[in-house]
Amino acid sequence: MNQTKGTDTKSYIESNRQRFIDELFDLLRIPSVSADSKFKADVRRAAEWVREKILEAGADSAELHETKGHPIVYGEKIVDPSLPTILIYGHYDVQPADPYELWDSPPFEPVVKDQKIFARGAADDKGQFYMHIKALEVLNNTTGLPCNVKMMIEGEEEVGSENLDIFVKNNKELLKADVIVVSDTSMISNEHPSVTVGLKGLSYLEVEVTGPNRDLHSGTYGGAVANPINTLCRMIASLQDENNRITIPGFYDKVAELTLEERKELAKAPFDEEAYKKELGVDGLAGEKGYTILEQLGIRPTLDVNGIWGGYTGEGAKTVLPSKAYAKISMRLVPDQDHHEITALFEKHFMSIAPEGVKVKVKPHHGGQPAVVPTDSPGFEAASRAFEEAWNKRPVPTRDGGSIPIVALFQKELGLDSILLGFGLNSDAIHSPNESYGIFNFIKGIETISLFHKHFGEVHGK
Ligand code: BES
Ligand code: MN
Ligand code: MN
Repeated sequence: MNQTKGTDTKSYIESNRQRFIDELFDLLRIPSVSADSKFKADVRRAAEWVREKILEAGADSAELHETKGHPIVYGEKIVDPSLPTILIYGHYDVQPADPYELWDSPPFEPVVKDQKIFARGAADDKGQFYMHIKALEVLNNTTGLPCNVKMMIEGEEEVGSENLDIFVKNNKELLKADVIVVSDTSMISNEHPSVTVGLKGLSYLEVEVTGPNRDLHSGTYGGAVANPINTLCRMIASLQDENNRITIPGFYDKVAELTLEERKELAKAPFDEEAYKKELGVDGLAGEKGYTILEQLGIRPTLDVNGIWGGYTGEGAKTVLPSKAYAKISMRLVPDQDHHEITALFEKHFMSIAPEGVKVKVKPHHGGQPAVVPTDSPGFEAASRAFEEAWNKRPVPTRDGGSIPIVALFQKELGLDSILLGFGLNSDAIHSPNESYGIFNFIKGIETISLFHKHFGEVHGK
């Protein structure tokens, strides 16, 4: 099955291509949903599977590290302590697949359609971290490893990485490396490869508005008693002004404004507004005034309601003035905002705008700090060279609106920047029904990652 050492990496990938895809399918069949305790055993099964594959790829060792939640898989291959070390991070957990009825094929029964693999986790992040395990196999069976490799694949990214946080703080020696590589982001397109250099932070919270002590007849009481849903809507609406700026006092105080030069650099990324709207089925956009769409997405903080509920939502009509209303709200943050501070500012402000007649509770969920990765590092140079060799183009640096909170923690605790070598596309529909990952991206990613190892070995220390 495996070819012998000496073959070049590209032909090794080509001749093992179908097996790589089949293996990924096995992983995609495991419903490792971290948020839902019903899948706890499956999450563990996925961890065991990943451990096996890291060993099969040629690692010296791979183990499960138990946590209060789902296990962390850690494996390594140290070829020579004098060589540079690459630490790979990824996550084997996935988002819940709901709503199931909107999937064209079952989320945990992967299928290929139009050269894309459809399954929950195909791009986020199973198809992406698995490229690293395959790159390890490829290098091991062809040229040999040009760098030492450490791999840390966690099972709680989609629920906030709390236990990984602790693991990193307690295992700094184990995780010692020269660079971190993460494939968990997207590129502009296959024609315009890009490397992410900015991720947003996150403050996520839930609010509860209580009016009367019980549900009331909306005719008998409506008009006199504060309706918590009406009130919540008004409160939420007031959080943004007519320019789509957030009205929470102090919210923008620590936002780092970019220089004109930095903004010009960002504007180099191609962006087609018409195609963007068309793809989303909207006839207009509604971002913060004074900033381009790429800036709104990449460098400006945002506030969005992620869910809102209360009252009667069943079939037909029921005339009721509800006792309670709820919403889940996310704020995406940019340097140098701090998610603890922003959560506190939100809480204070939201309580202060509550009108008479209702009580308000704010319950913070998880959060994370924003991160920016410098482009003048050996890691970024190695990434650029790897893309140049595999894609015949140097990648454009971009800032993403998504969050991978552990990246900021790696900077703080390990003093290491992460190279965000993501091969997904926005059209992969991560977190949505019909998530997919292009076979081209999967295979090309394995090639690019293998080249990254080679180039990092060459540029490191120069
Ligand atoms: N892989 C995503 C983050 C991402 C996606 C970054 C696309 C850039 C582009 C990650 O798995 C994710 O979903 N993160 C969460 C945050 C987490 C704390 C739940 C997010 O961004 O909502
Ligand atoms: Mn992810
Ligand atoms: Mn995700």
